[in-house]
Amino acid sequence: MTEQTIPIPMRTLIDAATAVAAHAYAPYSGFRVGAALLLTTGEIVTGTNVENVSYGLTLCAERAALVQAVALYGPAIRVAAVAVVNLNQAASPPCGACRQVLAEFTEPDAPISFPAGQPGAVRAVTAPFSAILPYAFDMKL
Ligand code: THU
Repeated sequence: MTEQTIPIPMRTLIDAATAVAAHAYAPYSGFRVGAALLLTTGEIVTGTNVENVSYGLTLCAERAALVQAVALYGPAIRVAAVAVVNLNQAASPPCGACRQVLAEFTEPDAPISFPAGQPGAVRAVTAPFSAILPYAFDMKL
């Protein structure tokens, strides 16, 4: 993976996501993903993917991190930045379900970093959260 110069706070998040990805339970895909959330309070919370023999029950790293953040710090948390990594040197943008779940707690202008690109040329890219989920579902009555 080639890496552009990454600002320090995102570098810290990427490092945290890389560390937790080593704990992935991924015996079926072998795809080890880590996610790290920077909360607006400055706390960093991480999560990793946990697969299941009933494949559809697999939990993604991003949602694992989000659930952990709420469990640790309560329902008022807000996410200021997100990093996603995988240990496979493969592109690993958050899936649609994770984008929608993150959107519930993430500021629209929060930077999110994830590995993107073609095999052999994967690099960490950073975008505002609103750019990766421009039309999130919302329920306004
Ligand atoms: N995975 C994640 O952890 N995050 C995503 O956003 C997409 C996919 C995991 C789930 C599964 O363990 C593996 O990657 C392959 O789909």
